[in-house]
Amino acid sequence: MWDPSTYLRYDDERSRPFHDLIARVGAERPRQVVDLGCGPGNQTATLARRWPDARIVGLDSSPEMIARAGRLGSPVTFEVADARSWRPGPDTDVVVANALLQWLPGHEELLRTWLRDLPPGAWIAVQVPGNFDAPSHRALREVAARPRWRDRVAPRLRADPVSSPAGYASVLTGAGCAVDAWETTYMHLLPAGDVHPVLAWMEGTALRPVRAVLGDGSDWAAFHTELGHALAAAYPVRSGRVQFPFRRIFFVARTGAATAAPAGSVPRGSDPHQPRQP
Ligand SMILES: C[S@@+](CC[C@H](N)C(=O)[O-])C[C@H]1O[C@@H](n2cnc3c(N)ncnc32)[C@H](O)[C@@H]1O
Repeated sequence: MWDPSTYLRYDDERSRPFHDLIARVGAERPRQVVDLGCGPGNQTATLARRWPDARIVGLDSSPEMIARAGRLGSPVTFEVADARSWRPGPDTDVVVANALLQWLPGHEELLRTWLRDLPPGAWIAVQVPGNFDAPSHRALREVAARPRWRDRVAPRLRADPVSSPAGYASVLTGAGCAVDAWETTYMHLLPAGDVHPVLAWMEGTALRPVRAVLGDGSDWAAFHTELGHALAAAYPVRSGRVQFPFRRIFFVARTGAATAAPAGSVPRGSDPHQPRQP
């Protein structure tokens, strides 16, 4: 289960990649914009300000997240839906998936499916965390492998589910898109608190499957404490803060554009209702 309040603890740090991603989308007059895995919807709401004439749809498989998004009072249509079975409509001109695809095994095939169904000139903008080899995830795997946890917790941890910028670029150029792919490491400076801030961060995302298997009782408390010690060693507090480097992978692609063309160019013969060159 996703808990919107826990997820929103680091809203500022989690929102920034979304804005950096959307800044690279050149659509001017999209008809429909779909935010897949929209979470609590606060970032989706900013899309309605960027494209006030578009129909903006936020989809998420978590009823808790969609309920929270519905309380924003924004003009966005929020609905519970599974991205794995979602398919673009003929008027879907922009698709956004920010911090979603790492939860969907085999998502490269899903991307190819969406790209086949999107109209020419549509934009797809994706960000995934590229930190599965970071000390935070290594600490999680190390604690999960201890005798007390290895049978229940270790099987719940995923192998690195994301590709590289080059890997995604190959998928997208192979589907005939113009591509802009990059990676960034953000240096988050998280304030120290009662709970180690990296542990508090992970509670909102990577630790969800662990909590789901351990429940809310003493096992979860013990695991939480052990991981907290491991994280405190990996991310020491200095001057009241913890340095938490976070690598993220981005790509923005435009369908039907020749691979040699820049992502902002208009594909030949495109429909005038499609987004135009920025
Ligand atoms: C890390 S959050 C990202 C939320 C938001 N996009 C953001 O950037 O803050 C991942 C979201 O993906 C949603 N999610 C996970 N699997 C999904 C699926 N199969 N279909 C739709 N949403 C899914 C979760 O419910 C969660 O809200």
